[in-house]
Amino acid sequence: MKNIVLYKSKYGNTYQYASWIAEELNWEIRDFSKFKKNEIKNYQNIIFGSGVYMGKMNKLKKALNWFKDKPIIIYACAGNNNVEKDIEHIKNTNFTEQQIAFHKFFYLPGGVDFTKIKGIFKMMLNVFRKIMEKKKDKTADEKAILEGFTNPTNFVDKKHIESIVAYAKQL
Ligand SMILES: Cc1cc2nc3c(=O)[nH]c(=O)nc-3n(C[C@H](O)[C@H](O)[C@H](O)COP(=O)(O)O)c2cc1C
Repeated sequence: MKNIVLYKSKYGNTYQYASWIAEELNWEIRDFSKFKKNEIKNYQNIIFGSGVYMGKMNKLKKALNWFKDKPIIIYACAGNNNVEKDIEHIKNTNFTEQQIAFHKFFYLPGGVDFTKIKGIFKMMLNVFRKIMEKKKDKTADEKAILEGFTNPTNFVDKKHIESIVAYAKQL
């Protein structure tokens, strides 16, 4: 039986991790949008990774529906550098307790480059930025977010795939 890494990535960070993981495990790799539901039976082990935008993991709803009877490995890639409370928030807003217990979840730190953002997201972020800039007593988090508008952050590093690769190897 075959194994595959499926990814959904807008800005490339989730894809970067998917390609490192697939290379390390010698598994197939494919964009989730090019994967068909009736192919699931051909694969023994599956990893699904996607980026987090406005709190939500991209295409996760569809993946959870497709894999409701087959446990898979799921990773989220978002803008924080392994901040525990942000990872908990991602888990709580995207999964039920049963889903988290059924599948295996990992978090991989991505990054944000606001200059690459286009369209509706850009408009929303500009409104958000203006509101935040006007705020008087900014928290450390808010200051860091504002800094991010001018200084891109990037926490992507191959070392972060160690736990997910170790877990997949012992399946
Ligand atoms: C419009 C937008 C919204 C985002 N919202 C969140 C968020 O709610 N929480 C978070 O931790 N990161 C957030 N991020 C950061 C992304 O998750 C991060 O850029 C990640 O690397 C995206 O994966 P990708 O490069 O594969 O597209 C956001 C980024 C953008 C561009």
